[in-house]
Amino acid sequence: MSLPHSLRWTICAAIALVCASAVRGILAAPQPQALTIDASKFASAAELERDVDAICSGGLRMPGGKLHKQKVAWFEGQLKAIPGVTLSSHEYGLTSWEPLEGQTLEQAGGLRVDGASLDIASAIAYSKPTGAKGVTAPLVFLPSGTPITADNAAGKVVVRDIDYSNVLPYGVVLVPSYSNTGDFTSVLLKSYKRPATAPQLLADMLAAGTAGAAGVVTAYDVPRSYMRSAFTPHDGTMYRVPGVFVGVDEGATLKAAARRGASATLRVEAQVYRTTTRNLYATLPGQSPETVVYVTHTDGVSYVQENGGAALLALLRYFAALPLSQRGRTLQFAFNSGHLHLSREGTDFFSRTVADGLASNNVTLVVPVEHMATREVEQVARAGGQPGSELRYTGKGEAMLWCVGPMRAVVGAVQAAVARRRLDRTIVTRGAGLPNPAVVPMYTSFAGLGSYFHTRLVPTTALISGPWTLWAPSWGKGAVDFARMRAQTLALGDVYFGVAGAAKADIDAGYAAYRRQRDAGTPQFELFVPPESAP
Ligand SMILES: *[C@@H]1O[C@H](CO)[C@@H](O)[C@H](O)[C@H]1NC(C)=O
Repeated sequence: MSLPHSLRWTICAAIALVCASAVRGILAAPQPQALTIDASKFASAAELERDVDAICSGGLRMPGGKLHKQKVAWFEGQLKAIPGVTLSSHEYGLTSWEPLEGQTLEQAGGLRVDGASLDIASAIAYSKPTGAKGVTAPLVFLPSGTPITADNAAGKVVVRDIDYSNVLPYGVVLVPSYSNTGDFTSVLLKSYKRPATAPQLLADMLAAGTAGAAGVVTAYDVPRSYMRSAFTPHDGTMYRVPGVFVGVDEGATLKAAARRGASATLRVEAQVYRTTTRNLYATLPGQSPETVVYVTHTDGVSYVQENGGAALLALLRYFAALPLSQRGRTLQFAFNSGHLHLSREGTDFFSRTVADGLASNNVTLVVPVEHMATREVEQVARAGGQPGSELRYTGKGEAMLWCVGPMRAVVGAVQAAVARRRLDRTIVTRGAGLPNPAVVPMYTSFAGLGSYFHTRLVPTTALISGPWTLWAPSWGKGAVDFARMRAQTLALGDVYFGVAGAAKADIDAGYAAYRRQRDAGTPQFELFVPPESAP
């Protein structure tokens, strides 16, 4: 049947009108979708800064602690004020470890050597509280690479240098990339060396507990001023030994004292108690039940760690202000807890639910977002031949990893968004680290929250960085470039529109192939989830 164009249009319009009034637009003819976020209607850098201030201020935000509960309530208030959003939450229990009320992580620890007190940078998170008196024992320095055993460490306070042995050259970081922004020449011959990629501390704390050590002191290779009240590690494993971090100068003092056979008194005062915390989920319906899920976390310690929450709020407010006709897929925003407590990580729980329900829950793409818009800090030599190095802002952006699983349409959308928003220092990549073809997925890390979804074979693209400032609150707000944050947030929003034309099955195809390989016997990589108590 061939009708004149104008008549066809009239019939269509009439049908659309009838349907729209009958079923409130659900069956309305699809409207052309915007392809990008309209930056003129989007939160300003100053508004992002205001929200980051609200989220990241006030001291250590331990999941389940008093301050973090206030932050979760703040998020809930913000989300409730956005029209059209449905809120739900998942509450769960955990054992919290945090400094005594009103104290910083620096005040939570102490060291005395030969009767004189020695400044520390911070208590080692989750290390065993000693009470105010502390424990006194002989010092022993064990160089990196020397295992901590009962023979060399029982009954002693072990002094260690922070160990960067598995640091990666930038060249290797770039190997699995699809593309990068072409502005990495100043670092290409260097290594990506950051405390966040020096995980030997975890093994040390466990080994020291097993060996019957009296305590652990880990020395940074920078002055303590940069790392005051830095929070590490975040496994959420209660250790069997107390521990503190010191700066490079105090480390040198302790090594000399160990050579003399001196003893040290090590103090950690912390409260360990059962509590609860919550993930918040905000859902904004689109025309289709297919869902794009943005994910971040709400607990943290610096202006870097949980600043993604401000980006997600800005995106949600923007999407909620659009007419339904501009939102093809449903949007969900997960503000999860427990990231400073990986043994009870809210995103671990959430990602399991998503992965288990993948056949029916309509989740089409997950977009985890963390540690946005950080400013690059590098080590430079200290004046006068002093040990270790200073830290300096380089004036450039910290490298951002934008991991994208095996999804051609999403890679294209991410690359287009990176170009459109002129992002700097961004690596669009298959994963963090080199591939392991013996498992699915072949790239086993997205360097953060993204790993939970990706390794459970949920279609994932994740933005993250891991700067020197990540765990160190002393850098304050200066660690974040809010104009850069705005550009990155716009790009994250653009991806929603950029994949709108791709069918769910096409987005999922690469992960579906992984799931078939798994079902045919290829081992699925299993992310390590630490225990809440040290063995
Ligand atoms: C997924 O979408 C279908 C419709 O396509 C709907 O019936 C179902 O309830 C949705 N599942 C969830 C968990 O929302």
